[in-house]
Amino acid sequence: MTTPIPAWARALLLADRAVHSSVRLAALVRTELLLAGLSTAEREAVNAAVFSAEDTYSPGGPTFAHGLFAWEREAFATAPFPPSGRVLLGGGGGGRELTGLCALGYEVVAFEPAPALSEALIAVAAKHPRARALRGSYADLVLAARGGGGPLGSLLGERYDAVVLGWASLSHVTDAAERASLLAALRSLAPGAPVLLSYLGPDDDGRANGRVERLRAPLRRWLSRAAGRAAAAEGEGFVPGAGFYQRYTPEEIEALASAAGYELAMHEREPYPHALLAPRSTVG
Ligand SMILES: C[S@@+](CC[C@H](N)C(=O)[O-])C[C@H]1O[C@@H](n2cnc3c(N)ncnc32)[C@H](O)[C@@H]1O
Repeated sequence: MTTPIPAWARALLLADRAVHSSVRLAALVRTELLLAGLSTAEREAVNAAVFSAEDTYSPGGPTFAHGLFAWEREAFATAPFPPSGRVLLGGGGGGRELTGLCALGYEVVAFEPAPALSEALIAVAAKHPRARALRGSYADLVLAARGGGGPLGSLLGERYDAVVLGWASLSHVTDAAERASLLAALRSLAPGAPVLLSYLGPDDDGRANGRVERLRAPLRRWLSRAAGRAAAAEGEGFVPGAGFYQRYTPEEIEALASAAGYELAMHEREPYPHALLAPRSTVG
């Protein structure tokens, strides 16, 4: 015979479920309103504000203190990533990768769009004789590569032996045309340089099957029609601590790289999705 669950415990569990569902519903509505309501430039401004408030990436924060991840060290030791030379580092946060790359003997030119993080990055770079840092975004890099100047205009005309798109930073470029322009800009700024990138992979934690989650697709369609914008793509989202993001499948990363003239020298999904791209003409 099974022991009956007391009525008060049943009621508590039911109330708990209702609270959880309401919180998830509120988060879903928040995300979909933000996705439908903001332009690409406005999303980037939100991301800069969100990351500026995250001191985990700056000296004194736990992510900075962690130093390079094991998969990053392994990628830097994998051909065609060069054993030395000048690295262009985008989305450099508060200087975690810059510090690690300098310790490995590289010269580093870094940039970061979030104001508070770029201040930290510039201060960290000042402590390394072979590093310099600027405030700027991937959109600014594209502008610079097209000869339009801007905050990263001074990066044009230097030789880069490798490019690193800082940890998951590519996932915060949620506009597909801007992603393609970014890789094209890297090809023109650093034609012979391999590119290490990392990204948020598909959301496979099962939440997409929840009852609340089933409201997302119809709400997304309805809000995009109401706002007069194209509906957000599969994999696009927003979270308070990391702003707007785009999740990618490995196939999407491979297509993006190939369209810009890169081949995949390495592509790993674990422990964190990352790929090392090699300019096509230098392979083989
Ligand atoms: C997960 S954090 C990683 C920070 C740093 N690379 C690290 O690992 O400590 C992602 C970084 O991408 C940057 N980012 C977001 N959107 C960007 C954009 N459009 N252009 C360049 N960087 C961007 C953020 O400001 C943030 O510093």
